[in-house]
Amino acid sequence: MICLSTTATDPAGALEQLRGNIEEIELLELRADFFAAGLAERPAGGGRAPPAEKQARSAAETLQRFAEDARRVWAERHPDRGPLAVILTIRRERDGGRYRGEEALRLRILERAVRQGGYAYLDLEEDLLGSEHGRAVTAAAERAGVRIIRSFHAPNGVPPDLARGAGNTAARPGEIPKIAVSANGSADLLEILEAGERLRQPRIVIAMGPYGVAARILSPLLGSYLCYCSAAGGEIAAPGHLTPAELNRLYRYRRLGERTAVYAVIGDPVMHSRSPEFHNEVFRAQGLNAVYLPLQIDDLRLFTDLSRRLRLQGVSVTIPHKSAIRKVLSGAEPAVEAIAACNTALRRPDGSWYGYNSDLAGFLAPLAGEFGRADDGGPALEGVRCTVIGAGGAARAAVYGLLARGAEVLILNRTPERAEALAAGLAGAAGAPRPRTARLERAALGEIAEYNRLLVQTTSIGMEPDEHSDPLEFYEFTGEEVAYDIVYTPPETLWLRRARRAGCRVIGGRAMFEAQAASQSALFLAQLRGEQLPARAPDGGNPLGARPG
Ligand code: ATR
Repeated sequence: MICLSTTATDPAGALEQLRGNIEEIELLELRADFFAAGLAERPAGGGRAPPAEKQARSAAETLQRFAEDARRVWAERHPDRGPLAVILTIRRERDGGRYRGEEALRLRILERAVRQGGYAYLDLEEDLLGSEHGRAVTAAAERAGVRIIRSFHAPNGVPPDLARGAGNTAARPGEIPKIAVSANGSADLLEILEAGERLRQPRIVIAMGPYGVAARILSPLLGSYLCYCSAAGGEIAAPGHLTPAELNRLYRYRRLGERTAVYAVIGDPVMHSRSPEFHNEVFRAQGLNAVYLPLQIDDLRLFTDLSRRLRLQGVSVTIPHKSAIRKVLSGAEPAVEAIAACNTALRRPDGSWYGYNSDLAGFLAPLAGEFGRADDGGPALEGVRCTVIGAGGAARAAVYGLLARGAEVLILNRTPERAEALAAGLAGAAGAPRPRTARLERAALGEIAEYNRLLVQTTSIGMEPDEHSDPLEFYEFTGEEVAYDIVYTPPETLWLRRARRAGCRVIGGRAMFEAQAASQSALFLAQLRGEQLPARAPDGGNPLGARPG
C-alpha cells in the first residue's frame, strides 16, 4: 500500500497534499510534527507557554478536525472505497522528525487525539513501552480500537542496538512492528533488510536514503506492509521518499508481486539515472511483469548478497562499477575482458552472472548507417582508416570495436603514453594490426590525413560545461570524413558542428546512447521471454521501436 506522509506546515496544506495525490494512495499519514504552530512548540523568546492541558486540548482538536476533513475529502472522491485510514504521527526531532516540544505534552496530545477518534493507526516509538506515560497512550489507543505501529528509528545510520530496538517493536501482539533506519551504504542496507526479515508480518521495514530506495520500491516483495511517500513539490518527509505518482506510474507499484522480475541499474551515485524511465517503459509496452530500479551500491563485494535479497535477474552497470563487476561474473562475452568493462549482467538459471558490454554494440550500430553492413550484419569497416581521439575507457571500447570490425586505427591523445598503452593492450585483438599513436597536436596533421575516413571523438572536450572547446581545432575537415562524437550533452558538440558545416556525415552521442540502451533491452527481453541468452550483446538496431528517455 502507498501511504502519503504529509509535510505541510498546517492542516489546510496537508489536505491540499491529500487532494493532489488522492488517486495514487491507499493510506494517509499525518505528520503532525510538521505543523509549525499549535502543536506545543516551546514558545520563542522564553515567553510563558499556556498550561499543558490547554495546549494538549487545542492541539488534539486540530488533529481531530484534520482527520474528519481528510476522511470527507476521501469519501467525496472515492465513495466506493471505504473510509480513508489515517495514521497519526508526531515524530520527535531525535527520531528524524520536527517535534521539539516536551515529551509529556506530546504523549498527552496523542492520548487525547486517539480518544477523540478519526485515526485508524497511531505511530508510537518502542521506547515508550518502558514509560508509564507511554503505556497509558498505548492503552488509550487499544481501548479506542486504534492500531499501533510500534516504531524504531535510527536517522543517522545502523545503531549498535538495532537488534534490540527491532525486537522491541515486535514485543506486543496486534501491533505492527516498524524499523526506519538510515542506510549509509550497502552494508547498512543488508543489515536493515536482515533485521526486518526477522520481524513478523505485517511489518514495515525502511532503509532511508539513496541506498534504500530500491528496497522501498520493492516493499511488496519484501513483506513490508506499506511504502511511505512524500507529495511532489513539497518537503520530503524522510530521505529516500519517492512521490506516489513515481511509484505508480514509473514503477507500477500496485502490480509488483511475487512473480515480478526485478532489474536494476547499479552505480554510485545512480539516483539521477534515466535508465529506469527507459526500461520500465519497454516492460510496460511489452506487457511484461517486470520492474527496473535504481540500486545504489558502494561496495561491490556485497552485490551477490544484495542481488539475492532483492531477487535481481539482470542489471545495468554504471560508474564506478563497470570494471570491478567483472569479478562477480562467471562468464562474459569476449569484449568484456578485452575492454575491461561490463555494462550489462544477467543472472543465469544456476544463479551465476554472465556479462555483456552493450556500449560496444551501441557504438558500432550507428556506423552501419554510414558504412553499410558486412555479411555478419555488423558495420562494414574492413580496411577503413580511422582516428580515435582520446585514450580513456570510452576510447578503449571504440578502438576495440573498430579493430574487431577490421578497421585500421590511429589513436591521438594529450598524453601519448596512454595512447601507446592502449594500442599495446589491444594489439592483436581480433587479429587486427596494432594501432598507431600520436600526441594530440598540430604535428599529427600528416598522420590524421592518412586516417581520416572516420574520426571518433571520445574525450570530454566539448561536453557540457566545456561546450566551447574543440579537441581538434587545428584540423580542417575535407568534408569527406564521417565524424562521430560520443558526447551527447550537448546533442551537437562544437567539433561535430564544424564537421557538419564542412559537409561531413556526422553521428552524435545520442545515437550511440540509444543503440546501447536498445541492445541492453534486447538482452533483458530475451531473458524475460525465456529465450536462450545470446552469446554477445546484440547489435543495437532499435528492435523495440522504443527510445531511451
Ligand atoms: P573515459 O572513461 O570517459 O574515457 P578517462 O578514462 O578519464 O574517461 O579518459 C579521458 C580522456 O579524455 C583521456 O584520453 C584524456 O586525455 P589524457 O589521457 O591525456 O588525460 C582526455 N581528456 C580529458 N580532458 C582533456 C583535455 N582538456 N585535453 C585533452 N584531452 C583531454
